[in-house]
Amino acid sequence: MDTVMQNPRVGSYSEGPFLKYKPCVQTPVVSTLDDLIRELYVVFNSDSVNVEFVHQLMSIYKSNPAEWKRFAKFDRFRYTRNLVDDGNGKFNLLILCWGEGHGSPIHDHADSHCFMKILEGSLSEVRFTWPKSDAAAYKQTINSSNECKNLKEISRGELHLNEVAYINDSIGLHRVENLSNVNPAVSLHLYSPPFNKCKVFDQQTGHSTSTKVTFWSKFGEKWNRDIQSSHAPEDD
Ligand SMILES: [Fe+2]
Repeated sequence: MDTVMQNPRVGSYSEGPFLKYKPCVQTPVVSTLDDLIRELYVVFNSDSVNVEFVHQLMSIYKSNPAEWKRFAKFDRFRYTRNLVDDGNGKFNLLILCWGEGHGSPIHDHADSHCFMKILEGSLSEVRFTWPKSDAAAYKQTINSSNECKNLKEISRGELHLNEVAYINDSIGLHRVENLSNVNPAVSLHLYSPPFNKCKVFDQQTGHSTSTKVTFWSKFGEKWNRDIQSSHAPEDD
């Protein structure tokens, strides 16, 4: 994962004792989902990623269900991952559909950047530290009530319509949930570089398992029935 610090196409950082990002003077026009995808192709044409600018792009785009409905395919029992664009191998853009009460396991992001924007409804995000790996540290995390504290909560919050969150493995792990019992939620996710495996974690023990991430649909129409019937989505 590489983060660029200067790129004339997308803005720059000022010099001085404190690093301060200056957005590009000419704000890109992102009126539609197609506009957003076009701009993302430009940004990710480089081997480095300007996190702030991608965050800005995803924030500028305002959710229009008419543009993304065809990708938003729900499942009754679990949240779904629907591929919108494969970013010429540089990124994956997905729409995730969360039924009432659906949530992800705690997971990492395979050393990739992860951007998440709310297109409909709202989602809860809880962030955790990485588990301590050695046994001594593990024992020290057992408190007097015998409750394991190995996966420590860092923060929790709720993302609302059009808000954008960013996480990577250096920030920590997270779990995403639709806490509503009455409203579904839809979110737009960008991962760069794309990955097909990540780790999921047990909150109580900190133990992790490598798992393959799958797509419920691709490009709004290519459904993989085998995947749908055999795998639960693991990443968000
Ligand atoms: Fe995630």
